[in-house]
Amino acid sequence: MTEDNLLYTGKAKNVYQAENDDEVLIVYKDQATALNGKKKEILPGKGVLDCQISQIVFNYLIENGIKTHLVKNLSDHEQLVKKTQVFPLEVVLRNITSGSLVRKFQIEEGQRLVEPIIEFYYKSDALDDPVINESQIHALGIADKNDIEYIKQETLKINQLLIPFFDNAGFDLVDFKLEFGKYNGKIILVDEFSPDNCRIWNKNDHHSMDKDVFRKHEGDLVETYQTVLQRLQDK
Ligand code: C5P
Repeated sequence: MTEDNLLYTGKAKNVYQAENDDEVLIVYKDQATALNGKKKEILPGKGVLDCQISQIVFNYLIENGIKTHLVKNLSDHEQLVKKTQVFPLEVVLRNITSGSLVRKFQIEEGQRLVEPIIEFYYKSDALDDPVINESQIHALGIADKNDIEYIKQETLKINQLLIPFFDNAGFDLVDFKLEFGKYNGKIILVDEFSPDNCRIWNKNDHHSMDKDVFRKHEGDLVETYQTVLQRLQDK
């Protein structure tokens, strides 16, 4: 791992070219950001926690038939993954009202939705990840109609697997963000699944156990993520 094979440096991860051309190495960083990078802090221990939580979630999804980029976990903060053509899309699924949905429609937080909502955002730090609809995704050549439908169905399937998974650990799965990429013509789940990109609330007291503690100054992020990891390991 040298600066020479660094492919991409993100807010929470660095990505390096691996030995095999079609694989990359993800190294998790101890950095927390919010408000699209405007709020930023180094939090020692965070990278290991994100990586370990994501490993547990991805392994569970793989065991249940979801195709992902994960090749193997190399250490507690490094993963070898397939190199994909990542769609520049953030796919958000919501089960319970919170976050930007509450702000947009001025509705009460914590209401279970009639059915899950799927939203697409165009990944662009410069543009603050604007909302994009299916017609725009297709017309702009970002993904064809079959790909969009597959991504939606896979996101719903992942939700159906993750609701009981987090429920068993004492959490309500409020919402989450996924990313997908293409590998050998097949769409697979990429990126990570950690409390950085989902909302999970304690079932008993509805406390946030995710990045909202950092966004809203509600507690210690590292301690919160440690509790999440412990409860996922113990369940
Ligand atoms: O902010 P909003 O309510 O739209 O976020 C919905 C979900 O998507 C949350 O779980 C949040 O952590 C996640 N998200 C993300 N990355 C973004 C925006 C939202 O992981 N850039």
